[in-house]
Amino acid sequence: MKSSILVTGGAGYIGSHTAVSLAKAGFRVVLLDNFSNSDFQAVQGVRSLINAEVPFYEVDCRDTDGLFDVFRIEKEKGHVIKGVIHFAALKSVGESVENPELYKDNNILGTERLLEVMRAFDVENLVFSSSCTVYGEPEVVPVDENAPFLEAESPYGFTKQACERLIVNHLTRNPKFNAVILRYFNPIGAHPSAVIGESPRGVPNNLIPYLCQSVAGIRGALHVFGTDYPTPDGSCIRDYLHVMDLAEAHVAALEFLFKDKLRDKDTGWRAYNLGTGKGASVLEVIQAFEKVTGLEVPYSIAERREGDVVAIWANASRAKDELGWQTKRSLEEALNDSWRWQKKRPDSQ
Ligand code: NAD
Ligand code: UFG
Repeated sequence: MKSSILVTGGAGYIGSHTAVSLAKAGFRVVLLDNFSNSDFQAVQGVRSLINAEVPFYEVDCRDTDGLFDVFRIEKEKGHVIKGVIHFAALKSVGESVENPELYKDNNILGTERLLEVMRAFDVENLVFSSSCTVYGEPEVVPVDENAPFLEAESPYGFTKQACERLIVNHLTRNPKFNAVILRYFNPIGAHPSAVIGESPRGVPNNLIPYLCQSVAGIRGALHVFGTDYPTPDGSCIRDYLHVMDLAEAHVAALEFLFKDKLRDKDTGWRAYNLGTGKGASVLEVIQAFEKVTGLEVPYSIAERREGDVVAIWANASRAKDELGWQTKRSLEEALNDSWRWQKKRPDSQ
């Protein structure tokens, strides 16, 4: 029988793409989401791409009883959940500054409760969505997994650091537990079918959704936040990876856990950077988008955005060596897929 994997935040951007890759790799996926930043359309999209039964539970990760029911119901149906990929979290840096308590409550308490319920059901394998934000403004780039956690740039970043620590503490009290912590750099793009993609609510904070909506005429010109940074063209540098590459990394992480590789190690957990290993500046991204789509990006130079890291990209060699994963898709392919998705979205009409 196929192993069942619970995907929390499964209606979200990365969760929905990962669900599709998991199914393709032979896993049975169970989705959970509270729709705080998504809607049922994504679930329908996943179902249509997988073309199979995909159970969905509208549950909040802070709701212990609701979580308990998910594991119980699946068990009663004969599907023991073997592993969990925990995406469910709030992720807006700006919102976290305005409402830090909400972020602590949602992200940290949600993770704590999930761990409790996993323990009650003897579910021993966890893949956790972390972020390169845990490194703050790194002293050395490319940044590797041994870089220290610097002071978090935002309450959101603090919750990711806290959740990583929570998971490691949980492990010390639960020797059979295994966790892979994935530190994502900047995921962009969409499934090539354009059936699922990134659907931010309201005005997008992130570069690519904003850029696409500017080109589609939904927003005004894109503001490039600062061109006076100490980088070759003055704009900030990030490591943009295709969301399908990122989705496939979760499959590799789960397969790694299921092969019991972690149990051979002392700690029971391992963190991996997920990025391309190459940085691109905001202005380079604009140029690449224009080249691949043939469209002009309306943009203007604006003030620096508070809290922005100047330049960060990944040393992702650990993921390559140990998980056998590396990115396959280019920046241009990712931008093209983002644009294809934008054109199909209802708000792009
Ligand atoms: P997303 O907002 O599209 O998906 C998160 C999903 O979790 C949403 O569908 C939301 O409704 C759900 N959710 C939030 N809180 C919940 C709760 N308490 N209970 C149940 N569901 C809840 O975001 P995403 O981009 O897919 O991010 C997924 C994960 O990856 C998050 O943990 C995020 O912090 C992390 N991450 C994202 C990025 C990025 O740039 N997108 C970068 C690094 C890390
Ligand atoms: N940018 C603009 N104009 C915009 C939006 C962004 O110039 O309208 C610039 C930013 O200043 C930054 C770059 O584009 O230099 C990327 O910004 P994003 O907001 O897309 O991404 P960040 O690197 O700031 O943050 C993202 C997620 C965080 C996560 C982090 C690391 O939003 O949640 O990646 O994974 F923590």
